[in-house]
Amino acid sequence: MKIAVIGTGYVGLVTGTCFANSGNEVTCVDIDAAKVDALNRGVVPIYEPGLEELVSYNLSADRLAFTTDLAAAIKPAEIVYLAVGTPQQEDGSANLSALWSVVEGIAPFLQETAVVVTKSTVPVGTNARIYAQLQELTSRNCHVASNPEFLKEGAAIDDFEKPDRVVVGVRDEYAADILRQLYEPFLRTENPFLVMTPESAEMTKYVANALLATKISFINEMANLCERMGGDINDVRRGIGHDSRIGFAFLFPGVGYGGSCFPKDVRALSMMTKENGLVPRMLDAVDEVNQNQKSVMIAKVDQHFENDLAGKTFAVWGLAFKPKTDDIREAPALVLINHLLAKEATVQVHDPEAMPNVKAVYGDKLQYHERRSQALEGADALVIMTEWSDYKRPNWEEMTQLMLSPTVFDGRNLYEPQRMKERGFRYYSVGRPPV
Ligand SMILES: NC(=O)c1ccc[n+]([C@@H]2O[C@H](COP(=O)([O-])OP(=O)(O)OC[C@H]3O[C@@H](n4cnc5c(N)ncnc54)[C@H](O)[C@@H]3O)[C@@H](O)[C@H]2O)c1
Repeated sequence: MKIAVIGTGYVGLVTGTCFANSGNEVTCVDIDAAKVDALNRGVVPIYEPGLEELVSYNLSADRLAFTTDLAAAIKPAEIVYLAVGTPQQEDGSANLSALWSVVEGIAPFLQETAVVVTKSTVPVGTNARIYAQLQELTSRNCHVASNPEFLKEGAAIDDFEKPDRVVVGVRDEYAADILRQLYEPFLRTENPFLVMTPESAEMTKYVANALLATKISFINEMANLCERMGGDINDVRRGIGHDSRIGFAFLFPGVGYGGSCFPKDVRALSMMTKENGLVPRMLDAVDEVNQNQKSVMIAKVDQHFENDLAGKTFAVWGLAFKPKTDDIREAPALVLINHLLAKEATVQVHDPEAMPNVKAVYGDKLQYHERRSQALEGADALVIMTEWSDYKRPNWEEMTQLMLSPTVFDGRNLYEPQRMKERGFRYYSVGRPPV
């Protein structure tokens, strides 16, 4: 099939590349000329495991191309995927300006039978608005489908190629059939292809993210309570997780969720709830608990150093909002860094992939280190904000030698408190008593 994908961010680039890799002819369009230029040379501007190799392979097989020329990409396309960003606006709702500019841009060039598919996360009712807008611009009924994306950054290719399920929202059988054929290679293990109305598909994406965010905020609230009451959240987690109704997934306590999806999608769903005359009690609580959780480690740092951080040196391990990505959007590490800088502390950071993005924000306000051990030199404390594998088994002896004081604030519960005590560390974690 001939496919155009508009927007080559985390989602568009993975979508286009994986569709090309299954044999389709894909042209990806972006307004960012520098990005398009780099991609045509096989240089992927984001970090996503395995993506660069797959882009290069499909570029050389002539099945994948990148352009800024929207018209040229749309004219031959049987399927047009919309994968532009839908960031949060001031009031919490989704900003659809990029989407509307693309809808207007593609209308004159669409083939009569082309299926326009929304991959971006968009408020319920957007599919209907796109349908109406295209009808007005083309004076005919266009095929408009919704196909929300559930991939996780850091495991995006695997998630895309082996999805738990594919959800499509359609208003006609033709669109459903084209999409079924497109996804056939990805569903050979019989995972379901779920066809529903566009409104249900749009809602599914928000409900999935809101429920996952709810699990995180719930376990974080319980972790904070454990600390006050002397329980150990890891034991509690074990105690509940074996219940098949509960399970273990997404119940890791930590420093709160970040990233480009959960925060904005929870707020957008909250806005939709209010706009429809209902009260988003749970959604707003999930967001509030999460905002608070980003400061839980900060409070421990402040307390340990009796609010006197000026002149102290902090090592920060992990800047990305989660491991295996360079994405720092809404990352909890940034909240910590802002606090440390405001208190006039020196901040020495390490992250396997996200340092260039952090440098673009903070410039020379931070000290950047390529090796995790270098960030520890002369540090009064280490704060761990992302659970990269690199941090799971550090060299304890080297740590105690390099640090001014062996103090660790572990926002991801990577280590066993008792063992840390035996190794000579002062150790703070989440939902477990400090040692
Ligand atoms: N990142 C994720 O893990 C993830 C997962 C599922 C769904 N989503 C959703 O997918 C959508 C895209 O997310 P993302 O993280 O890939 O965004 P992103 O910000 O990484 O990428 C968006 C891309 O669109 C391009 N763009 C903007 N306006 C354009 C225009 N008019 N024409 C062509 N290109 C244009 C930008 O230059 C950028 O490259 C969002 O709605 C998001 O909520 C994201």
